[in-house]
Amino acid sequence: MSIYDYSVETRSGEDIALSGYKGKVLMIVNTATGCGFTPQYEPIEQMYSDYHDKGFEVIDIPCNQFGGQAPGSDDEIHEFCVTKFHTSFPQMKKSDVNGENALPLYAYLKSQKGFEGFSEHPYKEQLEKMFAAMNPHWRSDPDIKWNFTKFIIDRAGNVAARFEPTADMSEVDACVKALLDEKSPADVQDIIKARRSCRSFRSELIVKEKLDKIIEAGTYAATGMNRQAPVIISVRDKATRGKLAALNARIMGQPETFDPFYGAPEILIVLADRSVPTYIYDGSLVMGNMMLAAEALGVGTCWIHRAKEEFETDLGRELLSGLGITGDYEGIGHLAVGYPAAPAKAAAPRKENYVYRIG
Ligand SMILES: Cc1cc2nc3c(=O)[nH]c(=O)nc-3n(C[C@H](O)[C@H](O)[C@H](O)COP(=O)(O)O)c2cc1C
Repeated sequence: MSIYDYSVETRSGEDIALSGYKGKVLMIVNTATGCGFTPQYEPIEQMYSDYHDKGFEVIDIPCNQFGGQAPGSDDEIHEFCVTKFHTSFPQMKKSDVNGENALPLYAYLKSQKGFEGFSEHPYKEQLEKMFAAMNPHWRSDPDIKWNFTKFIIDRAGNVAARFEPTADMSEVDACVKALLDEKSPADVQDIIKARRSCRSFRSELIVKEKLDKIIEAGTYAATGMNRQAPVIISVRDKATRGKLAALNARIMGQPETFDPFYGAPEILIVLADRSVPTYIYDGSLVMGNMMLAAEALGVGTCWIHRAKEEFETDLGRELLSGLGITGDYEGIGHLAVGYPAAPAKAAAPRKENYVYRIG
């Protein structure tokens, strides 16, 4: 199943197939008119007016399941939002998002992105206490916790993020903006020219589907004699990432508190088999393919050096043997990977005499 197999119902009872939104970035949000989070309508409307032209859509589903804070009829709710918050995006029929009458769409959304905790917010403690009293397993339950939970869908239909109502709206905005910036794979030349080394990352992991695509692009790099000398190690585990960062910093002669990965939440490491004569070229091309695939997906990367020295240490060797990688592998490079926290700078001018032509 994909998000495009579901539909939602408008206020007037018309069925809207989500397949009609293919290629767009969507925010699906359960709303209420009498909630402490209701003022979030304002930044949501702001995002809609800023990004609608670029392919952003809001699917607003009023829901009365949280504190009975959406008691009005569909028309009353709509009237309230338009008058008070000047909303211009369409509103759907009031629906359930949890329980046996929940929209099938919500079962899918929750299966794709569960609850990962509330972020810092004045209501955080109050909400946590309330849920803990109701259900001891509330943290592992993917059910929607409260009004204004937002699911963000990328242009390919992946559920890219779930934001609890306590999340800062600037984070939601940054996520949507990054997804809108994803490029069409048809624009290969644009992608190559737009890629820049990213040195400031947001803290959340990229969605798994994107990571898999980036890695797959690496495995399709050309290799000498097609011997496929490189291997790729994906490090999402925080503790391992931390150990590698400290080791890399030490090799650089920096204190272990220095982060050579610039805060990127995950790392891709390329090593290559020294017994293949072209191993360094092969590994470098894998790195290049992954950087470009990441760029196309709106994911930032930076090649971080010193993988060679790293995998000559005990920690590096232990990591390889733990993964069952035997043989004479040399570290080629790391890619720091994550969503960029700031827009990329323009490329430096290309040097003169970069290119010579014969004929
Ligand atoms: C082999 C190689 C090693 C690199 N090592 C590092 C590194 O350790 N740290 C870093 O911040 N950038 C590193 N970079 C990124 C370069 O500094 C960057 O590609 C260069 O400044 C050009 O900028 P651009 O990637 O934005 O075009 C490395 C790049 C390559 C190709």
